[in-house]
Amino acid sequence: MSILSCDNISLKLGGRDILKNVSFKAENAEVLGLVGPNGAGKTSLFEVLCGNYPPHSGSVVLDGQSLNSKSFHERVKLGLARTYQSPVVPDSLSLEDIFLAARKAYKPHLSRHTAEWATSMVNLEVNWKTPASSLDTFNRRKLLMACLLMRKPKVLLMDEPASGLINTEIDELDLILRKIVDELGIAIVLIEHRLELVSAIANKVTVLDLGKIIATDFSDRIFENKVVKEAYFGT
Ligand SMILES: Nc1ncnc2c1ncn2[C@@H]1O[C@H](COP(=O)(O)OP(=O)(O)O)[C@@H](O)[C@H]1O
Ligand SMILES: [Mg+2]
Repeated sequence: MSILSCDNISLKLGGRDILKNVSFKAENAEVLGLVGPNGAGKTSLFEVLCGNYPPHSGSVVLDGQSLNSKSFHERVKLGLARTYQSPVVPDSLSLEDIFLAARKAYKPHLSRHTAEWATSMVNLEVNWKTPASSLDTFNRRKLLMACLLMRKPKVLLMDEPASGLINTEIDELDLILRKIVDELGIAIVLIEHRLELVSAIANKVTVLDLGKIIATDFSDRIFENKVVKEAYFGT
C-alpha cells in the first residue's frame, strides 16, 4: 500500500478547471518528483492534499486513512508535512523560540533533544539565541525542514525547495533529502524547477501540464518522453 495516494482529483477555482482527474501514489522512503510548466497546477495540488482547497471530486488517502473530511491541522497530526516556495520564518523570534513553538503546536512532549537531532538532520548550525531574521534563504529552509522533522512526518510535501539557492547549496540539499528518505523512511513529494535535482534524487517523476498528468515514469526516462519534451520544453 502506498503511504500517500490521491485518486481522480479535480479542482475548480474561479470557474476554471485547475486540476483534472489527477491521480498519483507516493511510496515510503522514495522521492516522487512533481514537475511541469508554471501554472500547471502543482502548488494547487499541494493545497488539495493539505485540505486548503476542497476538490470538486476525488480522494486523498494517507497511510490507509481517508483525508477527505480532515482539516490541515488534522492532516498534519496524521503525518503530513509541507514546505512552501517562500521560506517564511517569524523574523522577530530566536531559533530557540521557534523550535519551542513548533514543538508545542503539534507534539508538546517533544524535548529539546529532538530539536537538536532535527537540526543535525538538516546540517543547520544553531546558535539558539540567534534571531531568525539573521538567517539566509538556505538556513531558513533548513530551519523550517527541521521544525517539520521533529514531528516525524510520514510524508513531506516540498514546494520548490531549491528556489533561491546557489548550486553548492542545491548539492547539499540533495544530500539532506537523501538522508531524510534513507534514514527516516519518509516519502517526499518534490515540486521542483531545477530538473537536475529532480533527475538526481527522484525515484519516479510525474509531469503535470494544464492541470492534467501527462506522464509518470522513472526519473532517468521521463525527460526522454516525447509528450513531456513538447509540453515542458516546447520542443
Ligand atoms: N486561489 C486561486 N484562485 C484562482 N486561481 C488560482 C488560485 N490559485 C491558483 N490559481 C490558478 O491555478 C493555476 C495553477 O496555479 P499553481 O497551482 O500555482 O501552478 P504551479 O504551482 O504549477 O505553477 C494558475 O492558472 C493559477 O492562476
Ligand atoms: Mg507553484
